[in-house]
Amino acid sequence: MTTTATIISQLAQVRVLPILVTDDVDQAIRCVTTLAENGLPAVEITLRTPNAMTVLREVVKACPTVTVGAGTILTPAQLDAVRNTGAAFGISPGITPVLAKAAAESGLPYFPGVGGASDLMLALENGFNVVKLFPSDIVGSVKMAKALGGPFPDVKFCLTGGVTVESTPTLLQQSNVLCVGGSWMCPANLISTNDWAAIGQLAAQAAAAGK
Ligand code: 3PG
Repeated sequence: MTTTATIISQLAQVRVLPILVTDDVDQAIRCVTTLAENGLPAVEITLRTPNAMTVLREVVKACPTVTVGAGTILTPAQLDAVRNTGAAFGISPGITPVLAKAAAESGLPYFPGVGGASDLMLALENGFNVVKLFPSDIVGSVKMAKALGGPFPDVKFCLTGGVTVESTPTLLQQSNVLCVGGSWMCPANLISTNDWAAIGQLAAQAAAAGK
């Protein structure tokens, strides 16, 4: 299993994590391959579709050089299922005591979601000091990351929700922002029309914005 440290160091390099929502295995493989070919070698595939576990399993098999994570993990049962797909890491939009404990015990590299200081304290109680700040644009984005940096100097954030290619460079300037995540480089309309050229362009722009 890839270690949490390895994933964090990859995210620290690439700094942009695409978030993919699709229920179609072939489109998912094509999309993840296109993202990787254009400078985005780590991806989050959400559990927001009925077929998500199969999509994850098949993408993991088909794209062995890509770091494939699972997003939108809401329950310990989903966390278990994600482990069985071979996904390299898990992400949640929020945090609960039950899920945080299960994630800590599972050994799967895991990044809980936080919206403020109490969530972050729960994350730290369970040993997680790299977290997803969500929904970043609503809870204050870089201002929130900066404010939380006072009481929690050892925490790093992945800002997600409402991030754009335009906002990325500014968000990444904040020293405790590890990376940003977003779906803008693989939108549903381009996936459904198999427009891999357009997704490739958006991915390359996103990767450049992360430099
Ligand atoms: C997530 O799943 O983390 C967010 O919904 C992604 O947000 P975005 O679609 O605004 O990029």
